[in-house]
Amino acid sequence: MSRSLVCVCNMVTEKEILAALKKGARSTSDIQQATKAGTSCGKCLMTIDRIVEEFLSQQPADPQQRIEFDK
Ligand code: FES
Repeated sequence: MSRSLVCVCNMVTEKEILAALKKGARSTSDIQQATKAGTSCGKCLMTIDRIVEEFLSQQPADPQQRIEFDK
C-alpha cells in the first residue's frame, strides 16, 4: 500500500488531507466532511487523527485568539 494513500475505502491521500487542513479543517470530523476519508470502515481514523495532530502542532499560535479567564 502506498504510504500516501490514507483511506483505502474512499481513495483519499495524505496530500488531500493536508490540503483540507490548509484550507481550514481543524479536526478529524472536518477532514471526514471535506474529503470523505474515514467515513466507511473507519480503519484509517487513527492515521487521520495523527495527521491532524501533527499539522496543528506545527501551526503558530493565533494572535487573534481570545483567552478566557475565570472570573
Ligand atoms: S480505510 Fe478509511 S474508511 Fe476505510
